[in-house]
Amino acid sequence: MKLLYIKGSPRGRKSKSGHVAESFLDSYRANHPEAEIDILDLWDESLPEFDGDKVAAKMTFFGEGTLEGTQKAVWEQIVTITKRFASADDYLFTVPMWNFGIPYRLKWYIDIIMQPGLLFQFDPENGYTGLLEGKRATVIFTSGGYVPGISESFGVDHHSTYFNAWLRSIGISDIIIVRYQPTLITADPIAGQIAAQKEAAYAGRA
Ligand SMILES: Cc1cc2nc3c(=O)[nH]c(=O)nc-3n(C[C@H](O)[C@H](O)[C@H](O)COP(=O)(O)O)c2cc1C
Repeated sequence: MKLLYIKGSPRGRKSKSGHVAESFLDSYRANHPEAEIDILDLWDESLPEFDGDKVAAKMTFFGEGTLEGTQKAVWEQIVTITKRFASADDYLFTVPMWNFGIPYRLKWYIDIIMQPGLLFQFDPENGYTGLLEGKRATVIFTSGGYVPGISESFGVDHHSTYFNAWLRSIGISDIIIVRYQPTLITADPIAGQIAAQKEAAYAGRA
């Protein structure tokens, strides 16, 4: 049993989503003492550029060229990173809203691992089929001012909508969502944090 915790915030001890994640982890550790916990801090991890060679390697699976030479070598690198991701049974993600979307290093990581034959397959009749099976994810979403349903002048959600759609596209549909929103434009941020921590601790029991 392995949990992969992917940190989307660079804010260390100041991260609100990080505090909520700690509540999940405390309860997960207590309930799954045997589980291995792999922590992937996207802001410490050196991510390879997803550049021309890597894009070309990906496109060979859609009929553009053949996987050989430099592209074959970079593909091996992608496979290694993706296998670390795919090897988990459970996932914990912290996902702050940044400019209505997700932090760029999280998107970068998704661009690296979102590979045909590894996480998904695609066909023109049925679209995406996720290749991961039997996995569970808990996702902690934070935002400073945005809350679901708020007027568009406070932003729009390309954040949880995108991230949840991505999870489903790779086969993860058992998703627990914990929202700590808003973290900043609220008279009582502590109440919001406590409520989110309770939800996260409950999720960690499963
Ligand atoms: C670069 C950046 C962009 C942000 N964009 C938004 C935004 O579009 N909407 C919003 O409500 N909050 C936005 N925020 C506020 C964060 O979502 C908020 O501070 C949240 O608590 C961050 O999570 P963290 O504390 O775990 O880092 C932004 C913060 C940063 C640093």
